[in-house]
Amino acid sequence: MERKGILLAGGRGTRLYPITSVVSKQLLPIHGKPMIYYSLSIIMLAQIKEVAIISTPRDLPMYQALLGDGSQFGMSFTYIEQREPEGIAQAYLLAETFLNGAPSMLVLGDNILYGDGLGTKLYDAALQNDVSTVFGCKVTDPERYGVITFKNDRPHSIVEKPAQPTSNIALAGVYFLTSQASERAKLLTPSERGELEITSLLEMYLEEEALQVQLLGRGFAWLDTGTHNSLSEASEFIRIIETRQNLKVACIEEIAYMLGWIDKSKIENIVSEFGNSDYVQYLKSIIDV
Ligand code: TTP
Repeated sequence: MERKGILLAGGRGTRLYPITSVVSKQLLPIHGKPMIYYSLSIIMLAQIKEVAIISTPRDLPMYQALLGDGSQFGMSFTYIEQREPEGIAQAYLLAETFLNGAPSMLVLGDNILYGDGLGTKLYDAALQNDVSTVFGCKVTDPERYGVITFKNDRPHSIVEKPAQPTSNIALAGVYFLTSQASERAKLLTPSERGELEITSLLEMYLEEEALQVQLLGRGFAWLDTGTHNSLSEASEFIRIIETRQNLKVACIEEIAYMLGWIDKSKIENIVSEFGNSDYVQYLKSIIDV
């Protein structure tokens, strides 16, 4: 069965108050694009076309207005409400009907991954239906994330936001899980902070030795954008890369076009309507060559 994507773009965004008091975090700009473009591009690079976008009842209509039914990218989007932010693993319960027994790829809407060869890594992980895959990255502040420890080179334990981290490898917000994810999520109970924890779900896979951890080395950047500093650092990072290379990161129409999911005419339509945006000028340069 074809793997399906889940894009989790709800949450309270309390660390970004007051910006997030009326606007959803994943709609905020990261150098010229809404934040959600970056996580959507990660799903597209894994070549997954069918995606459920999950957000709050307040914000879901905005995502619908922004991204539509997905056909403009040659994709298909389903919108699902999360009434309360009761944890990342809750996504597998909310998306159970959508997944309908398919394996999945879940991406957190405030994560950015960048690096040469990323598409191949993601696509390879997406092809493996019998095993689950997560990505580990070395960070200076592991206490903010789910942290993975290794024993004899094998993943050994996963701890959510440990006060005293025993490793500096944090898990990025990209999870390829097998078709059992929704069934397993039903066995979870809320943690002390009242959430269904993704780390507890991953622990179940780990205990069965059915979890593979891919380490993203120094050639990759993993950024999250949940605080005021990380938000502006991410924007600056993207601005520098884009200016230097004259290539855009997470230009979703470009990815769809490169994958052959859309033809020139879809891009021409955008160019004729919004031609004075540099994002659209960039799109124009892709189809002009
Ligand atoms: P977090 O950054 O852990 O939570 P948050 O976005 O609500 O922010 P804050 O901690 O500042 O209050 O969430 C990570 C991502 O997952 C983010 O994109 C929001 C999303 N999310 C949901 O959509 N639903 C949830 O129940 C949770 C916990 C997170």
